[in-house]
Amino acid sequence: MSMDVSVIDEILKEKGTGAEQAIPILQGIQARFRYLPIEALEYVCSHTEITPSQLFGVATFYSQFRLKPVGETIIKVCHGTACHVGGADTLTETLENQLGIPDKHTTPDMRYTLESVACVGCCSLAPVVVLGHDTLGKVTPRKISDALAAHMAADKGDQA
Ligand code: FES
Repeated sequence: MSMDVSVIDEILKEKGTGAEQAIPILQGIQARFRYLPIEALEYVCSHTEITPSQLFGVATFYSQFRLKPVGETIIKVCHGTACHVGGADTLTETLENQLGIPDKHTTPDMRYTLESVACVGCCSLAPVVVLGHDTLGKVTPRKISDALAAHMAADKGDQA
């Protein structure tokens, strides 16, 4: 296993090893890795009372858990009714072109993941895009394109 298991050990120490701790353990792993690496799940099963079917059952049942790696920044385009009417399709298309990836994919450099989501709960601001930690409202193709360009430039600055 190439993974640093001390991180998993810390999570198990903090959360406990009983079957009822499956959700907090998975949340802890995802907070650390941004998704649930298969090696981490196997390690949990071999070091707790949680069986593989219990753990994988929980991991696949709840939409909050991701079994595939995601980018450092997740861009969520709301496609709920209000945002759909407000032009969400065009926003997704704009982002697909700018990032060079289709919806629900991650850029090869693992910096951005683009995903369409259901209503994010602020319909009065439709159409809405969540760019990393920022919720943007009344978004136009131009506005999201500029916001992404600024984010990419800042990101590059951080990495320089
Ligand atoms: S439909 Fe987009 S925020 Fe509700």
